[in-house]
Amino acid sequence: MKLFLNDCKNMRKYIVAGNWKMNTTVPEGVELAKAVLAASAAVPADVKLIVATPFTHLCPVAAVVGGTRIGLSAENCADKEKGAYTGEVSAAMLASAGCQYTILGHSERRQYYGETDEKLVEKTRLALANGLDVILCVGENLEEREAGRHFAVCESQIKNVLYNFTAEDMKHIIVAYEPVWAIGTGKTATAEQAEEIHAFIRKTIAEKFGEQVADDTTILYGGSCKPSNAKELFAQKDIDGGLIGGAALKADDFIGIALSF
Ligand code: 13P
Repeated sequence: MKLFLNDCKNMRKYIVAGNWKMNTTVPEGVELAKAVLAASAAVPADVKLIVATPFTHLCPVAAVVGGTRIGLSAENCADKEKGAYTGEVSAAMLASAGCQYTILGHSERRQYYGETDEKLVEKTRLALANGLDVILCVGENLEEREAGRHFAVCESQIKNVLYNFTAEDMKHIIVAYEPVWAIGTGKTATAEQAEEIHAFIRKTIAEKFGEQVADDTTILYGGSCKPSNAKELFAQKDIDGGLIGGAALKADDFIGIALSF
């Protein structure tokens, strides 16, 4: 109902994005994309649906979702433009494969692959230069939350990356708040815990870019989001949808979440 209550003072989009992570073979991914597309008819047109797939799946999944309401995202991109960087995939390659988005800064990449805020500035710059919208992930781990540092961690991740960009660039940047302790653990942040950080992230964006840009920025919640808890999360003023891991691997659950606005 939130959709209809939006008084149009902002350009914020409501988005449900599935992050498939390192799951599914190519044929399984194609089947999943087909199932998501088939089930998507039930979702109101003003909810944007996105699937973020492994690199190997992008072209075959683009053949399924291209020209439909479902956006296609990568899960990462290189911090270099092109050249001798064996094993990397550039933003230009992603765009040419049919992607409109890339996730950047997921906590799993920060934790396991040494993704730093400095690298994320470069990645974001290259993604935007190649016409991709960025889904930038931020969030604290359990130790940081228990030490009461969750606001400070999110603030520095936002400032270190986004403050290098312009208000115009912000039209192409979506933020995803993903508390690491809630990812894949079955422990969801409560709607109140999520909302207070979302509101804080929006305020941090407003301090640099002004209220209008902050109001127009889509901020997604991620971390054990499922059909049973999405409604309460999405009802919050500053939660504009979800970045979904495990539940995105089942078309019915993913669409169930998208029906929760
Ligand atoms: P889960 O939904 O499996 O907790 O994963 C969330 C996530 O990391 C999405 O990027």
